[in-house]
Amino acid sequence: INPVEKKLIDMHELATELYSHILMNTEVGQPALDYLHERGLTDDTIKFYRLGFAPKEQILNKFLENKKVQYDDMRKSGLFIETDDGKLRDRFFDRIMFPIKNEFGNLIGFSGRVMDKNASTAKYLNSPETDIFNKRKVLFNLSDAKTTIQKQKNVILFEGFMDVISAYQSGVTNGIASMGTSLTTEQIATIKRLTPSVSVCYDGDAPGQNAINRALSLLGNTDLSLGVIQMPEGIDPDEYRKQYGEEKFASYMHSAYESPLSFKMRYFKLNRNLDNETDQISYINDVLQEVAKISDPLERDIYVNQLSDQFNLNKLDLTNRMNTYIQKNN
Ligand code: CTP
Ligand code: MN
Ligand code: MN
Ligand code: MN
Ligand code: MN
Repeated sequence: INPVEKKLIDMHELATELYSHILMNTEVGQPALDYLHERGLTDDTIKFYRLGFAPKEQILNKFLENKKVQYDDMRKSGLFIETDDGKLRDRFFDRIMFPIKNEFGNLIGFSGRVMDKNASTAKYLNSPETDIFNKRKVLFNLSDAKTTIQKQKNVILFEGFMDVISAYQSGVTNGIASMGTSLTTEQIATIKRLTPSVSVCYDGDAPGQNAINRALSLLGNTDLSLGVIQMPEGIDPDEYRKQYGEEKFASYMHSAYESPLSFKMRYFKLNRNLDNETDQISYINDVLQEVAKISDPLERDIYVNQLSDQFNLNKLDLTNRMNTYIQKNN
């Protein structure tokens, strides 16, 4: 890291300390601390992730000035919004602060969450792109999960920070999350360096299912071995932990494994009515396109047989259709 980056990282270190102090030790932070307790996080977890609270009042600007941080460095940090008259206003206020670290454990950004469900602003506000914060590269929790990922030769990819944190509190320490975006090639390359296998564990709602499908396509272009950990309908991993407890969470992570193809066969049924012939045909075509990607002819045969039984269709017709997809893939 160069001197400019070092300054920005140091500034995030100071901000993290400040926000954490406000959360843990002040009256202004108490409602936020209650909120986190209400969600079932322990003080150990809150401290481990160095969660904090940015109050309504402007405080970071003054705080950093007192620490002799230069205006220009503050401007570049992403922690402020510059007004028309050149003043720097705290970007984050009245939000629970989740510090974000890079792969090496350096603090590089924040995500701030509103507590009020009915707030008119976005639920999460992230740091903007800076010299040290690149959303395309960041994987939340990577620096802390790295050792476990390498030891277990597996990473669990979650949708949100709270899911990763819930997993950690449940003893599942190989979880990471991208920053609310679809996976990038940079993130996939990072994952590949550490582990040969990935389990995708996104939310059990419609956006989560769409995101799994997208993630499987992106990860499917690599030689990573893939699995899905399917959440019960409508809940996300953090809600699962809150509802069923940490032990059940941990065992669910180990037991709910599903193959990508089995996921897709379920996914392709969503929003389709398989009693209707048009939907049947589009479903069968979708499945055959996936089966066509399997390299083992015997395995392909198993799925073609299943479709043939399920829809009472001629096996040869199905095989021919699949073969046209195989040719297209080559
Ligand atoms: N996200 C975001 N901005 C939003 C909503 C979501 O950046 N307005 C990102 C966050 O990184 C979030 C992830 O998308 O963690 C998943 O979204 P969602 O499932 O809605 O959030 P949760 O992680 O479930 O957050 P919480 O449990 O705190 O509601
Ligand atoms: Mn409390
Ligand atoms: Mn979600
Ligand atoms: Mn969620
Ligand atoms: Mn959630």
